[in-house]
Amino acid sequence: MKIAVVGTGYVGLVTGTCFAETGNQVSCIDIDKAKVDKLSNGQITIYEPGLEKLFLRNQKEGRLSFTTNLAEGIKDAVIIFLALPTPPGEDGSADLKYVLGVARDLGKILTSYTVLVDKSTVPVGTAEKVHAAVAENYKGEFDVVSNPEFLREGVAVEDFMKPDRVVIGTQSERARNVMKELYAPFVRSGNPLIFMDERSAELTKYAANSFLATKISFMNEVAQLCEKLGADVDMIRRGIGSDERIGKRFLFPGIGYGGSCFPKDVQALVKSSHEVGYDFQILNAVMEINEKQKLHLLPKIKNYFKGDLKGKHFAIWGLAFKPNTDDIREAPALYIIDALLAAGATVSTFDPEAMPNVRGILGDKITYAENQYDALTGADALIIATEWNEFRQPDFLRIVTGLKQKAIFDGRNLFDVEAIKNLGFHYESIGRTAATQN
Ligand SMILES: NC(=O)c1ccc[n+]([C@@H]2O[C@H](COP(=O)([O-])OP(=O)(O)OC[C@H]3O[C@@H](n4cnc5c(N)ncnc54)[C@H](O)[C@@H]3O)[C@@H](O)[C@H]2O)c1
Repeated sequence: MKIAVVGTGYVGLVTGTCFAETGNQVSCIDIDKAKVDKLSNGQITIYEPGLEKLFLRNQKEGRLSFTTNLAEGIKDAVIIFLALPTPPGEDGSADLKYVLGVARDLGKILTSYTVLVDKSTVPVGTAEKVHAAVAENYKGEFDVVSNPEFLREGVAVEDFMKPDRVVIGTQSERARNVMKELYAPFVRSGNPLIFMDERSAELTKYAANSFLATKISFMNEVAQLCEKLGADVDMIRRGIGSDERIGKRFLFPGIGYGGSCFPKDVQALVKSSHEVGYDFQILNAVMEINEKQKLHLLPKIKNYFKGDLKGKHFAIWGLAFKPNTDDIREAPALYIIDALLAAGATVSTFDPEAMPNVRGILGDKITYAENQYDALTGADALIIATEWNEFRQPDFLRIVTGLKQKAIFDGRNLFDVEAIKNLGFHYESIGRTAATQN
C-alpha cells in the first residue's frame, strides 16, 4: 500500500518506519527542512531503541522516503496519517492549528478517494473538524478516521510492532476495510483491533493517558503519606501491585510525570470537560499533585544544606523525562535545575542521550559532563532525576571520590536504603521511611 505520514516527529517517524517494515511504500512529510534533509541522508533524528536499524533498512530498500513537499509526498497514497503536534494552547486545550492547517492544504490537492487518519492526540470532535476543513476545497470522496497512538517513548518500536490493541474510530465500512488490511500484520498474535466511532476513539486516548497519570499521582500521594507515617512505599507498591485488579505497572513513585503526552493530555481533557459543563475533579487533583511532586526533593535538599543553597554545586544524573529517550519535554529534571539556579546554586549534569536537547534550551547556564562520574567533580550532592539503567548499580567509590559531601537525593528510588546507609551516605528518596533514610 502507498502511505503518507504528515509530521515526522516521534510518532510520525516510528509510524512511517514500522509501516514500511511490513512492506508498504511510505512517504514521510515534514515542514522542517533540516529534519527532512537529515533523514533523507540516512541520519536518524530521535533516539529510540531499535528504530535506527529499521529506518536504515527500509530507506535502503526504497520503501521509506522523506520530503517537505506535501503534494509530492501524498501522491497516490491510499492512506494519509496526520502525526502533527497538538500542543496546549494558552487555555490548556489542544491547539489544532497544525492538524486543521494540513487538512485544509490536503483539501486543495486530493484527487481521489483517500483515508485520512488522525494519529495525533486530538479532542473529541476533531475528526468532524478535519472532515469539514478538507471539504472546504475537496468535493470528492474521502473518510476521516481516528486512530490514536499508544506507543511509549523508549519502547516505541516494540509497542508499534506488537500493540496491546489498535483503536480505530470510523463509521465508514470502506475506511474500516482499508485500516483492517493495513494493521493485519501487527495483530497476528491475536491482540485486538478495536473498532468504534470516531468520538469514542478520540476520548479513549485521553482516558488512557489520564488514567495512567492518575495512577502515578496516586502513588506519589501514598509516598508522601509514607514519609509522614514512617512506612515504606516500595512495600506498599508490592503489596497492592500483586492484586490483579490493580496491576504491577505504573505504581512507582517518583518526582512526577513529564513528557510530551501526560501533562498536556490531562490538561486538555480537563479543558474539554469544562467546555461541556463537566468538572473532571479527579484530574484537577492529579495535575496539582504532579506540579508539587516535581519539586518534592527541593525541601529535602534545602533542609540538608540548612536552608541555603547559594554557592552550592549539584550533580544531576538524568535529564530526559524518562529513560531510553532523549525527550526532555516537561522533564522534572528541568524544573529542579530551574529551582537550584534560582536559589543561587550551580549544576553539572549527565544524561546518556538528552544533553544536546537540554543544551539547546539551557545553553551555558549549566555544565554537561562526559560521563556520570565526571558530573560529580566538586559537587556538594548528587541528585538523580531519571532512572537510566546505568545509574542503578554505580561505582559508589567513584561517587565518594567525586562528591564533596556524601549526600544523594534520589528522585527515582534506585538504591536500597539500608545498603546505601551502610556506605555512609546521607540518602533521601521518595516515600521510604524517614527512619531508614539516614
Ligand atoms: N511522543 C509520544 O510519545 C506520543 C505518543 C502518542 C501520541 N502522541 C501524539 O502524537 C502527536 C505528535 O506527537 P510527536 O511527539 O510525534 O510530535 P513532534 O513534535 O515530535 O513531531 C511533530 C512533527 O510535525 C512537524 N510539523 C509541524 N507542522 C507541520 C506541517 N504543517 N506539515 C508537516 N509537518 C509538520 C514538526 O516539524 C515535527 O517534526 C501529538 O498529538 C502527540 O500528542 C505522541
